[in-house]
Order: sequence, then structure tokens, then C-alpha cells
Amino acid sequence: MAIRDILKMGDARLLRVAKAITEFDTDALHLLVLDMLDTMRAADGAGLAAPQIGVDLQLVVFGSGERIARYPDAPPIARTILLNPRITPLAEPGAQGAVLEQEDWEGCLSVPGLRAIVPRFARIRYTGFDPYGDPIDRTVEGFHARVVQHECDHLIGVLYPMRVRDFTRFGFADVLFPGLAPTQDD
Ligand code: NI
Repeated sequence: MAIRDILKMGDARLLRVAKAITEFDTDALHLLVLDMLDTMRAADGAGLAAPQIGVDLQLVVFGSGERIARYPDAPPIARTILLNPRITPLAEPGAQGAVLEQEDWEGCLSVPGLRAIVPRFARIRYTGFDPYGDPIDRTVEGFHARVVQHECDHLIGVLYPMRVRDFTRFGFADVLFPGLAPTQDD
């Protein structure tokens, strides 16, 4: 187990489309997952994608099982290790088939010190596999849906600044939120 260096925006490795994982339950995969969890914890992140440590594979980790101070109203997200994910935006119940977006603040361990308002689908289904090859299939909303979309964007070379529409709400965290203690990124 080891804490790995996190690549920062500008590194071309963050812009690749990651390769699908074809072999599950291998020693190398389990060691990679342990490194990612260690790295996420050490950086106090809400999630981490393999490309952020320079690994060109479709693998993300997120969730700690605990509430996040920055989103005190968001229910805790169970620690999840998700391989080869697919995301489907879902309509809101009772919204006559409309797929809604929500705006909220995001940061990213690969974009240190900055925050922006980013639109995301409010409700999604995500599928994929755990490291043993067992399927994962969840329907989630709100902060959980946001974290999954952010992390999975890393697998297609997309960093959150590329999703920003209103650049008047993009800036340095210590300027946007003066007096607040440093909060989690990503
Ligand atoms: Ni990120």
C-alpha cells in the first residue's frame, strides 16, 4: 500500500479515455485499489479516479461511509470501488419524463485550490463491477449522483472546469469562501 502522487490539470494523462478492465480479482488490481483508497484518504478527498494517479484504467473509488462537512445534509456514501462504470441520466419521479440538472460547488484533487458551480444530472443509474467482477447497479440522486458523475468524467478525460458554464462562479476556494476552514477536494 502506498500514497501515490496525484496528477494536476495540465498533465496530458488526465485527458485520456481510460481502458476498460478485462481481468478482475487479480493481485495487481487489489493492490491498485488499496493505493487509491490510501491516496484518497491522505488527500481527504471524496473520490479518486485511476487516471489521477496516472493509471489508464476505468476504475474509480469514492465514499467514506461518513458524512462530509461540506455537504452536511447529504447522506453518507458507502465506500465504493467501481470498475468499467456506465451512467444513465434518469428522469425525476413526477417530472413527466424530464431529466433535471442540479448546480452545486465542486472541487477536484487535480485542480487544487479552486471551486466552481457545476451542473450535473440530479438523478442517475450507474452500473459497473467491483474488483471481484460482481455487478454494481444503483440508482442515486443529489450529492451521490454528483460524485459519481465527477469521478467517471475522469475516465473520459474530462475535468470539472470543462463542465463549467458560468465562469463568474469559478474561483479560488479561500476567496470564494473566506474564513472557512480548508474543505475537501474532489
Ligand atoms: Ni476530480
